[in-house]
Amino acid sequence: MKLRVRGISGDALLRKFLPRGLFARSLLIVLVPLVLLQAVALQIFYGSHLDELSRRLAGAVAGEVSFMIDQIDRSPTTRTQIIDETDEHFAFTTTYLRYQTLRHLPPPDAPGPVDDDLAHELHEDLHRPFNVAWNTAPAFIRINVQMPGGVLRVDVPRKRLYIGTFYIFLVWLISTSLILFGIAALFLRTQVRGISRLAAAAEAFGMGRDQGPIKPEGAIEVRRAATAFNRMQDRVRRFLAQRTTMLAGVSHDLRTPLTRLRLALAMLPETPAGEIRDMVADINEMETLIAIYLSFARGEGSEQAIASDIAALLEDVAAAARRAGAAIICDIPGPLMATIRPEALRRAIANLLDNARRHASQIWLSAAFGPRHLRIIIDDNGPGIPLAQRETLFRPFESADPGGTGLGLAIARDIIGAHGGDIMLLDRPGGGLRVTIELPA
Ligand SMILES: Nc1ncnc2c1ncn2[C@@H]1O[C@H](COP(=O)(O)OP(=O)(O)OP(=O)(O)O)[C@@H](O)[C@H]1O
Ligand SMILES: [Mg+2]
Repeated sequence: MKLRVRGISGDALLRKFLPRGLFARSLLIVLVPLVLLQAVALQIFYGSHLDELSRRLAGAVAGEVSFMIDQIDRSPTTRTQIIDETDEHFAFTTTYLRYQTLRHLPPPDAPGPVDDDLAHELHEDLHRPFNVAWNTAPAFIRINVQMPGGVLRVDVPRKRLYIGTFYIFLVWLISTSLILFGIAALFLRTQVRGISRLAAAAEAFGMGRDQGPIKPEGAIEVRRAATAFNRMQDRVRRFLAQRTTMLAGVSHDLRTPLTRLRLALAMLPETPAGEIRDMVADINEMETLIAIYLSFARGEGSEQAIASDIAALLEDVAAAARRAGAAIICDIPGPLMATIRPEALRRAIANLLDNARRHASQIWLSAAFGPRHLRIIIDDNGPGIPLAQRETLFRPFESADPGGTGLGLAIARDIIGAHGGDIMLLDRPGGGLRVTIELPA
């Protein structure tokens, strides 16, 4: 059943008041039922025993009072002596008020269950008129009994009738809860630490920060997750290294035969149609490509993430693009510190600015921290890219330009992805393309 309070569902309400951390939640899950259970058990146990106990205490006091009265009845002449002796034995304070009579008869109603018990027991034991003053003094209860020649006034210490149960109950509840809390916290901390380490490591790895394997600790499932994460991290790392090595190797090895080709072509006489010249141009293009692959492989393979000022980096890339002929307006209130791989990010931005420069006459570059991301926006006033083509053009070697390699966007997405970020192609509000990059802050 779903509980709804003013439009908020019960689940949402619970979520609002439940602590968010795993540690606090598990502690609550352990402690709340335990404390509740204890409270109920103690209530049942003490509740029943308390009744019995108070009845017996009241019975004892009533018995002692009636014993004293019996003694006095038997030998009225030694009354003073009997009173002294019983007072000493039972911790009473007794006075005999000669020639007096009781005014309030029958005894007034008893205020509480303990007092009720006493009134009842006195009634059973005394067989003569009496009354009880419950509130004469905080330390004792006054019992007045009508004797043949006066009133016997017995002050019974309250302590003889009441037990400090509530106090014991509270101390017991609080101290056991504290001990439970300590033990639970001790055990849970290790469990939760394992999980939060795993979460932090996965987060860092997703952002392209390699922090090495994590130490498996805690419960078996948490350990298993940590071990699995380590293995996965290892495989991804190996895969990346393999890919880069292969790219570098292929590019490098292609250079030698290409150089041989170029040399061989240089020996040949030019044909009338200029085929040799075209071939040399092709070889030049291939060498440029190889240079791009090599620099890509080199950059991605070895660069470490460091804390850098992205504002300065962007201004730098923009300045380089301006030298290549781009008109760029920058809106970058710096500094914007983030942990990134500066060379890789530089290449990604340079690729995007290069694209924009080729398709548009004006470029706007801006960057700022959002609530959760560092957002970089590259706007241009070119023709933009139709929605249907955007995903395709992100793929390697997909180009709509005659001279393009089709690697610019692919490399940019690779680099941003390795930072744990996102790159999106959107429409610029005033026409043209908007490239939005979000890096985790
Ligand atoms: N700002 C832009 N405006 C219009 N079209 C663009 C823009 N940026 C990219 N494109 C289109 O996307 C295609 C892919 O771009 P990408 O950078 O991946 O490759 P390229 O520029 O053709 O080649 P390379 O960057 O490898 O030299 C481009 O060919 C171009 O048609
Ligand atoms: Mg390009």
